[in-house]
Amino acid sequence: MDRFYDIMDEAPEARGIRAMHAEDLGPMRQKLFEFMSGWHGGPPLYFQRKDAVCITRAHQPFAIGESERDQWLFCMHRALEDIGVDADLRRMLETPLFRIADFLRNR
Ligand code: HEM
Repeated sequence: MDRFYDIMDEAPEARGIRAMHAEDLGPMRQKLFEFMSGWHGGPPLYFQRKDAVCITRAHQPFAIGESERDQWLFCMHRALEDIGVDADLRRMLETPLFRIADFLRNR
Protein backbone atom coordinates (compact mmCIF):
# COMPACT_ATOMS: atom_id res chain seq x y z
CA MET A 1 0.00 0.00 0.00
CA ASP A 2 3.00 2.26 0.55
CA ARG A 3 4.01 1.69 -3.06
CA PHE A 4 0.42 2.40 -4.17
CA TYR A 5 0.45 5.82 -2.50
CA ASP A 6 4.02 6.57 -3.68
CA ILE A 7 2.78 6.07 -7.24
CA MET A 8 -0.36 8.13 -6.63
CA ASP A 9 1.88 10.86 -5.28
CA GLU A 10 4.33 10.83 -8.18
CA ALA A 11 2.67 9.62 -11.38
CA PRO A 12 1.22 12.27 -13.70
CA GLU A 13 -1.35 9.63 -14.74
CA ALA A 14 -2.84 9.80 -11.22
CA ARG A 15 -2.84 13.57 -10.80
CA GLY A 16 -6.64 13.76 -10.74
CA ILE A 17 -7.14 11.38 -7.84
CA ARG A 18 -4.05 12.64 -6.00
CA ALA A 19 -5.72 16.05 -5.82
CA MET A 20 -8.77 14.48 -4.08
CA HIS A 21 -6.63 13.15 -1.25
CA ALA A 22 -5.32 15.05 1.75
CA GLU A 23 -1.85 16.50 1.35
CA ASP A 24 -0.55 14.08 3.98
CA LEU A 25 -1.07 10.55 2.63
CA GLY A 26 0.21 9.01 5.87
CA PRO A 27 -3.22 8.28 7.39
CA MET A 28 -4.47 6.77 4.10
CA ARG A 29 -1.40 4.53 3.82
CA GLN A 30 -2.35 3.07 7.19
CA LYS A 31 -6.11 2.88 6.49
CA LEU A 32 -5.81 1.16 3.12
CA PHE A 33 -3.27 -1.29 4.57
CA GLU A 34 -5.76 -2.10 7.34
CA PHE A 35 -8.65 -2.41 4.89
CA MET A 36 -6.65 -4.69 2.61
CA SER A 37 -5.59 -6.85 5.56
CA GLY A 38 -9.23 -7.79 6.15
CA TRP A 39 -10.09 -7.94 2.45
CA HIS A 40 -7.33 -10.51 1.90
CA GLY A 41 -8.67 -12.68 4.72
CA GLY A 42 -6.29 -11.44 7.40
CA PRO A 43 -7.23 -9.53 10.56
CA PRO A 44 -10.07 -7.05 9.82
CA LEU A 45 -8.00 -4.15 11.16
CA TYR A 46 -9.92 -1.39 9.40
CA PHE A 47 -13.29 -2.45 10.81
CA GLN A 48 -11.77 -2.69 14.29
CA ARG A 49 -11.02 1.04 14.19
CA LYS A 50 -13.38 3.34 16.08
CA ASP A 51 -13.47 5.68 13.07
CA ALA A 52 -14.18 3.03 10.41
CA VAL A 53 -16.80 4.15 7.89
CA CYS A 54 -18.82 2.40 5.20
CA ILE A 55 -16.59 2.40 2.14
CA THR A 56 -19.36 3.52 -0.21
CA ARG A 57 -20.22 6.46 2.04
CA ALA A 58 -16.52 7.36 2.44
CA HIS A 59 -16.33 7.94 -1.31
CA GLN A 60 -19.59 9.85 -1.77
CA PRO A 61 -18.02 13.31 -1.29
CA PHE A 62 -15.69 12.68 -4.24
CA ALA A 63 -16.68 12.72 -7.90
CA ILE A 64 -15.61 9.27 -9.10
CA GLY A 65 -16.13 8.43 -12.75
CA GLU A 66 -14.41 6.02 -15.13
CA SER A 67 -11.29 8.18 -15.28
CA GLU A 68 -10.86 8.30 -11.48
CA ARG A 69 -11.58 4.55 -11.24
CA ASP A 70 -8.95 3.84 -13.86
CA GLN A 71 -6.40 6.12 -12.20
CA TRP A 72 -6.86 4.21 -8.93
CA LEU A 73 -6.50 0.87 -10.72
CA PHE A 74 -3.44 2.17 -12.60
CA CYS A 75 -1.71 2.93 -9.26
CA MET A 76 -2.62 -0.50 -7.93
CA HIS A 77 -1.43 -2.26 -11.09
CA ARG A 78 1.91 -0.45 -11.01
CA ALA A 79 2.32 -1.07 -7.27
CA LEU A 80 1.68 -4.81 -7.63
CA GLU A 81 4.14 -4.96 -10.53
CA ASP A 82 6.76 -2.98 -8.63
CA ILE A 83 6.66 -5.22 -5.57
CA GLY A 84 7.01 -8.30 -7.78
CA VAL A 85 3.54 -9.86 -7.59
CA ASP A 86 3.43 -12.38 -10.42
CA ALA A 87 0.98 -12.01 -13.28
CA ASP A 88 -1.40 -14.81 -12.17
CA LEU A 89 -1.78 -13.46 -8.65
CA ARG A 90 -2.09 -9.93 -10.01
CA ARG A 91 -4.99 -10.97 -12.21
CA MET A 92 -6.60 -12.75 -9.25
CA LEU A 93 -6.48 -9.52 -7.23
CA GLU A 94 -7.25 -7.07 -10.01
CA THR A 95 -10.49 -8.68 -11.13
CA PRO A 96 -12.33 -8.13 -7.82
CA LEU A 97 -10.57 -4.79 -7.25
CA PHE A 98 -11.99 -3.59 -10.56
CA ARG A 99 -15.46 -4.54 -9.32
CA ILE A 100 -15.07 -2.60 -6.07
CA ALA A 101 -13.57 0.43 -7.81
CA ASP A 102 -16.33 0.37 -10.43
CA PHE A 103 -18.97 0.03 -7.72
CA LEU A 104 -17.59 3.19 -6.06
CA ARG A 105 -18.25 5.21 -9.22
CA ASN A 106 -20.88 7.85 -8.58
CA ARG A 107 -20.96 9.54 -11.95
C1 HEM B 1 -12.45 4.11 -7.60
C2 HEM B 1 -11.46 4.97 -7.37
C3 HEM B 1 -11.17 5.50 -5.99
C4 HEM B 1 -10.94 6.80 -5.68
C5 HEM B 1 -10.90 7.97 -6.65
C6 HEM B 1 -10.76 6.87 -4.24
C7 HEM B 1 -10.53 8.02 -3.53
C8 HEM B 1 -10.51 8.13 -2.15
C9 HEM B 1 -10.37 9.36 -1.42
C10 HEM B 1 -10.21 10.75 -2.07
C11 HEM B 1 -10.39 9.06 -0.11
C12 HEM B 1 -10.22 10.04 1.08
C13 HEM B 1 -8.74 10.26 1.26
C14 HEM B 1 -8.33 11.23 2.33
O1 HEM B 1 -9.07 11.41 3.33
O2 HEM B 1 -7.23 11.79 2.21
C15 HEM B 1 -10.54 7.61 0.00
C16 HEM B 1 -10.62 6.90 1.17
C17 HEM B 1 -10.61 5.53 1.26
N1 HEM B 1 -10.62 4.64 0.22
FE1 HEM B 1 -10.74 5.13 -1.72
N2 HEM B 1 -10.84 5.61 -3.72
C18 HEM B 1 -11.09 4.73 -4.75
C19 HEM B 1 -11.20 3.36 -4.66
C20 HEM B 1 -11.04 2.63 -3.50
C21 HEM B 1 -11.04 1.20 -3.42
C22 HEM B 1 -11.23 0.27 -4.63
C23 HEM B 1 -10.86 0.87 -2.11
C24 HEM B 1 -10.78 -0.48 -1.45
C25 HEM B 1 -10.57 -1.61 -2.11
C26 HEM B 1 -10.74 2.10 -1.36
C27 HEM B 1 -10.55 2.21 -0.01
C28 HEM B 1 -10.55 3.37 0.72
C29 HEM B 1 -10.50 3.43 2.17
C30 HEM B 1 -10.41 2.25 3.14
C31 HEM B 1 -10.56 4.80 2.52
C32 HEM B 1 -10.54 5.39 3.94
C33 HEM B 1 -11.95 5.74 4.39
C34 HEM B 1 -11.90 6.45 5.74
O3 HEM B 1 -11.78 5.75 6.77
O4 HEM B 1 -11.96 7.68 5.75
N3 HEM B 1 -10.84 3.16 -2.24
N4 HEM B 1 -10.61 7.08 -1.26
